[in-house]
Amino acid sequence: MDATAELRSGKPIPARDRLIVALDVASAGEARALVATLGDVVTFYKLGLELFMRPGYFELVEWLGGQGKQVFVDLKFFDVPETVRGAVRGLRGRGIAFATVHGNQAILEAAGAEKGEVKILAVTVLTSLDRGDLDDLGFQCEVGALVLSRARRALAAGCDGVISSGLEAPMLKRELGERILVVTPGIRPVENRPADDQKRTVDVAQAFANGADYIVVGRPIRAAPDPRAAAEAIQSTIAASFPR
Ligand code: C5P
Repeated sequence: MDATAELRSGKPIPARDRLIVALDVASAGEARALVATLGDVVTFYKLGLELFMRPGYFELVEWLGGQGKQVFVDLKFFDVPETVRGAVRGLRGRGIAFATVHGNQAILEAAGAEKGEVKILAVTVLTSLDRGDLDDLGFQCEVGALVLSRARRALAAGCDGVISSGLEAPMLKRELGERILVVTPGIRPVENRPADDQKRTVDVAQAFANGADYIVVGRPIRAAPDPRAAAEAIQSTIAASFPR
């Protein structure tokens, strides 16, 4: 059963499906090669902006579906509501489990109204931003307060969940309950923590202990000397977080 059907039916998410690997690579060919390397260790992939700017994005979505993989289209739609509505409509019927939307109530409502079988996740505050970056952007509030208000709005607008740092996941589950799906990027396994642009990070075990439903992992797997072994190690940690 795919993630969408599972969530609709209230069935538990298989532990292995909780790892979503970000295919932030420069071509569909590289993406296919990474998927082949990771084999059956990874069941769920996120396709973002980098691949979208290269040929073959939707062919890759289809190919992943044919490989029995689930797909998260992370294009962070942000436009006038009617355009977002049309964009979300275009994702239906393509075997896409998750998609991301950014914006205010009207934009989120447009996405929520048109989502069909696609789960819509609202971007809260990018995990690469900290309090100082929010100041730069003109927000006079704490990160947590902004994440919570965006998450509340997303649910009220008919979205299914949010993209949130693991640091804010406990507050989201406490305030909004299990009905909000929390997908957490900015994962930095302790044994393989690169110095990069992610600021509000947690490790794999911490993300799930804090209430994340899924994690998104890119560089800690792609840049590892042995990506498959790195993904296996993460899957072992996830399995230990969800003992049967
Ligand atoms: O390489 P890394 O593990 O940092 O990849 C994180 C992925 O999650 C990237 O594809 C990035 O676009 C995405 N993402 C994020 N923070 C958000 C939303 C998405 O890092 N708030």
